[in-house]
Amino acid sequence: MTKKIVVLPGDGIGPEIVAEAVKILEAFRQEGLDVSLEYGLIGGAAYDETGTPLPDETLQMSKQADAILLGAVGGYKWESLDISVRPEKGLLGIRSELNLFANLRPAILYPQLAEASTLKADVVAGLDLMIVRELTGGIYFGQPRGIRTLENGEKQGFNTLVYRESEINRIGKVAFDIASKRQGRVCSVDKANVLESTELWRETMTTLSESYPDIELSHMYVDNAAMQLVRAPKQFDVMVTTNMFGDILSDCASMLTGSIGMLPSASLDENSKGMYEPIHGSAPDIAGQNIANPLATILSAAMMLRYTLDEAAMADRIEKAVSKVLDDGLRTADIYSEGMTKVSTSEMGDAVLAAL
Ligand code: NAD
Ligand code: IPM
Ligand code: MN
Repeated sequence: MTKKIVVLPGDGIGPEIVAEAVKILEAFRQEGLDVSLEYGLIGGAAYDETGTPLPDETLQMSKQADAILLGAVGGYKWESLDISVRPEKGLLGIRSELNLFANLRPAILYPQLAEASTLKADVVAGLDLMIVRELTGGIYFGQPRGIRTLENGEKQGFNTLVYRESEINRIGKVAFDIASKRQGRVCSVDKANVLESTELWRETMTTLSESYPDIELSHMYVDNAAMQLVRAPKQFDVMVTTNMFGDILSDCASMLTGSIGMLPSASLDENSKGMYEPIHGSAPDIAGQNIANPLATILSAAMMLRYTLDEAAMADRIEKAVSKVLDDGLRTADIYSEGMTKVSTSEMGDAVLAAL
C-alpha cells in the first residue's frame, strides 16, 4: 500500500532545505518507492495563513501519515507573538499530539569533515554517538507554567520539570535497545544532585538496566557531560537524557560533526511512526540566500527510509551519496575549508542526487 509522507517545510531555511530532501524522495519514487507526498503548513507560515502555528488540517493529515518530513520553524517576525501561538508551539504541539516521545539524534563525523570541526581532528575522528532525547515531557510540557505577578507587583516566570516513571522507562528502553545494536553502552545524563525529577530519572534508569544485563549503564551530571562532549566525545556510545538537556547537548554534539547543518533526527512513537527533521532551526540569519546546508535534512530523509519505510538499502544509498559529494570536495559555507569547492543549498542537493 502507498505510504503517506507529509511534508512540512515551515519557516526560514525550512523550505530551502526540505526541497533538497524532496528531490531525493522523488527520485526514489521514480524508481518505484511507493509513497505519496502531501504538503502542510506549520509554524510561522501556518500562523500567517490561518492564525495558528498548528492548524487542525496539518494535525489531522500528520496523524494519518506514515511519516513526516519537517524543515524548521520560527523566526524574528514572530518573536513578539504570545507564546501560545508562536511557531515553536506548532512543533511542540505536533510532537506531543503524535506522542513522538523518542528523539534520536545521531552525531556521526564524516571523516572528510574532520577539518571542518572546530575541535582537533583527532578528538573527533571516528565519532559515532547517538543522543536519545526524551521529547514529550519534562520542563517543556510540565504544569504549572506561566508568568505571574507577585504581591509586591514584581513578575515571576515559572516552569515545572516533571517526569513520571513510565515516561523514563519508555525512553530508557529505546536507549537500551539502540545500545544493544551498537557498542552496548548507555550513559544517562541528569542533574540528580540537585533536581528530584532527575533523581527519579537516575533511579528508574538503574532499575531498568537490570533487565538489560548486556548493556553497561553509567550516569553523568549534565554539566560534566557538556564538558566531556568537547573534551573526549568518543567515550560515549548512547546518551539518554531529558527533553531540555537533550536539546542543549545535541546542538553541542553537532559541532563535533563539523556543523549543526549535518545533524539529522528522528522523533518516534511507540510504533516507530515518526517525524524526521534536522536538529537545527530556521536559521533566519541566512534564510532565502540558498546557502544553508541541506545535508541534515537529506540525512533525516535517510532516517525516515530506515526507521519508518523499511527501506534500509535506500537509506544506505543516501548516506553513501553524501559521503561521495564530501569526497568530491563539495561544501556549503558552514562546512567550507580551504581548497574545497563552495556550493549552494541546491547545488549540494543536486550533487547528492547525482551521486545516488
Ligand atoms: P538555528 O539552528 O536556526 O541557527 C543557529 C546558527 O546555526 C545560525 O547562525 C544559523 O545560520 C546556523 N545554521 C543552522 N542551520 C544551518 C544550516 N542548515 N546550514 C548552515 N547554517 C545553519 O538556531 P537559532 O538561531 O537559535 O534559532 C532560529 C529560529 O529557529 C528560532 O525561531 C528558533 O526557535 C527556531 N528553531 C527551530 C527548530 C526546529 O524547527 N526544529 C530548532 C531550533 C531552533
Ligand atoms: C529543536 C528545537 C526545538 C526544541 C524548539 C524550536 C521548540 O530547538 O528541535 O531542537 O527546543 O525542541
Ligand atoms: Mn534545539
